[in-house]
Amino acid sequence: MGDLFPALGDKMIEVKNLSKIYIDGQLQTKALDDISFGINKGEFVAIMGPSGSGKSTLMHILGALDVPSSGTYILNGKNIEKLKDDDLAEIRNKEIGFVFQAYNLLPRTSALQNVTLPMTYAGIPKSKRHQRAGEMLTLVGLGNKLKSYPNQLSGGQKQRVAIARALSMEPSIILADEPTGNLPSSQGNEIMDIFEQLNNKGHTIIVVTHEDFIAARCNRVLTLADGKIKGDR
Ligand SMILES: Nc1ncnc2c1ncn2[C@@H]1O[C@H](COP(=O)(O)OP(=O)(O)O)[C@@H](O)[C@H]1O
Ligand SMILES: [Mg+2]
Repeated sequence: MGDLFPALGDKMIEVKNLSKIYIDGQLQTKALDDISFGINKGEFVAIMGPSGSGKSTLMHILGALDVPSSGTYILNGKNIEKLKDDDLAEIRNKEIGFVFQAYNLLPRTSALQNVTLPMTYAGIPKSKRHQRAGEMLTLVGLGNKLKSYPNQLSGGQKQRVAIARALSMEPSIILADEPTGNLPSSQGNEIMDIFEQLNNKGHTIIVVTHEDFIAARCNRVLTLADGKIKGDR
């Protein structure tokens, strides 16, 4: 992975005066209100805050799935709003690994095939895809479930498949929006064990959670309220 992970401490994410306003007919919702912060390479950050405080909106912008209404977002030295669609799609696929609360696995598709998908989009040859998917599933403790379908797996196992999928393109940053929200705490802790292991290898990890025991396992906690940053410790 080498040069994917330059010196720890370098800036990975720089957000300046970021706002997001959703406009729906006459209704305007200010989901993010002039927020600024930075995240260094190798940090392990929790984002907390009440429902509706803007956590998912922020994650979508950090993951280049959505754009801010105003302000700047610099990811790994690149000014995101200046990029063309093709470059953005490439960043989404190669630089960022997403993990969602609802797993978002394809139902009639094996664990192995689910993990190969991002690599298919990237044009990686089949034998390489399968080899790497097997390695990633082994890394998350599912080396014996390669052929299982999502409905044969527990919630925690499904989330581990989703993590293996997020890792398949060796992203420098992992964004997880309430990844343990649907899981009992023992399985939530297993997911955090995997994130901790990845963080020790140099991955930058950002986890949205409303559970204190999850946030306690991160090195930094950013708290949002009404679209503003209310705490950073
Ligand atoms: N696509 C959307 N269109 C309109 N309003 C939205 C949309 N997504 C989120 N919002 C609103 O923006 C605010 C922040 O939402 P969200 O970022 O999902 O918060 P959280 O993830 O912290 O619960 C809420 O008031 C929500 O209703
Ligand atoms: Mg949310």
